[in-house]
Amino acid sequence: MTQQLEPIEKASIDELRTLQLSRMKQTLHHVYNNTPHYKKVFDDHGVHPDDLQQLSDLAKFPFTTKADLRDNYPFGLFAVPMDEVIRVHASSGTTGKATVVGYSQKDIDTWADVMARSIRAAGGKRQDMVHIAYGYGLFTGGLGAHYGAEKLGCTVIPMSGGQTARQAQVLQDFNADIIMVTPSYMLNIADELDRQGIDPHKLKLRLGIFGAEPWTDALRNEIEQRLGIDALDIYGLSEVIGPGVAMECLETKDGPTIWEDHFYPEIIDPDTGEVLPDGEEGELVFTSLTKEAMPIIRYRTRDLTRLLPGTARPMRRMDRITGRTDDMLIIRGVNVFPSQIEEQILAVNGLTPHFFITVKREGNLDKMSVAVEGLPGLHDSQYAPIAKELQHNIKSMIGISVKVEVKTPGKIPRSEGKAQRVMDHRKG
Ligand code: DLL
Repeated sequence: MTQQLEPIEKASIDELRTLQLSRMKQTLHHVYNNTPHYKKVFDDHGVHPDDLQQLSDLAKFPFTTKADLRDNYPFGLFAVPMDEVIRVHASSGTTGKATVVGYSQKDIDTWADVMARSIRAAGGKRQDMVHIAYGYGLFTGGLGAHYGAEKLGCTVIPMSGGQTARQAQVLQDFNADIIMVTPSYMLNIADELDRQGIDPHKLKLRLGIFGAEPWTDALRNEIEQRLGIDALDIYGLSEVIGPGVAMECLETKDGPTIWEDHFYPEIIDPDTGEVLPDGEEGELVFTSLTKEAMPIIRYRTRDLTRLLPGTARPMRRMDRITGRTDDMLIIRGVNVFPSQIEEQILAVNGLTPHFFITVKREGNLDKMSVAVEGLPGLHDSQYAPIAKELQHNIKSMIGISVKVEVKTPGKIPRSEGKAQRVMDHRKG
């Protein structure tokens, strides 16, 4: 495979750190001078942009959280006049107000660049046709992927999410080489291909760029085998730019490379806020290095992972997201992430990746149940033993007793974007 890497993708660590330091200084001055919120919190914290002499000095600066975005709703964190903002996006958020983000022309260009770089790292080329099934609209997925694919010179099919029957038809008729979609919606589309009698192995499709929600290596294997494609992980979040903050490289498939020339990562202890060394698991924090309209300083993503050394590129990688601090279920004192349940489900023959977790409290006891669909064609007598096997594996691997119910195909609600996999009735 011949790939034209950008010079910065091959730069030495020293060159990269020097660039990061100068960009970080600029960003700190820019927000201090142009965003009243940052001026106030830096002053309250007793720090000034000039206090940053080396990258590790960033730890002196205060964090930004989702609450800061909500308190400054909608446009209070913008650092340029409104007439320089050419786009806004927003993430819905399950409670309260959406968080709003803004982009200057330069930000939109940067975003298209990192997305084009991401698609290229996944093995995409300008000759490829890209089917985009991330939602278009306030969500950053659709338009983020769209501008990146166009920038790379690909032919873009702007499908957006939904109309699943049509997604399957277009995949077959237009012969896309690449699909960009959430992994859970990919599963839904795969079921639809089956329903329409389309053999996915006969499609031209060779690559999927999947993200926007947690998924596991077990699900990667499942998708790769079922569709006969390479399935790669893309990471990003609206507050930092959207998709394209980090992308897994095809040649190594070992976790997303963080595009560190634009986004500076730290891992912190979520309880104390202390910065942890590379390799240790904690909460991922990002500082944007080149954004103009809405730079972000030390944003607490709530995503749990660790930083790993570079492999395909000198830039550091992140491990797969284990979960979010706010997705972690505490069941009778044991911490459980939905991704751990997904892994156990996919290790049992006869089960599909369609599942739903319900948690409630009965008396003083937390009760968790897992509903999961069996494969089509299971005999009635197979449901109970399969349920028992999964129950046993969850008990022995994760350490909690759960109720498992294996359902017939089609009984678990399907996703058309980010999957909703948990209902926790204990949260009021
Ligand atoms: O989900 C941006 C995106 C679009 C990324 C398309 C990748 C592809 P938000 O809606 O702001 O932005 O949600 C961001 O989604 O903090 C993670 O919790 C989760 N997330 C995103 N990518 C991954 C991933 C977009 N690859 C939040 N693995 C983040 C696990 C992910 N979680």
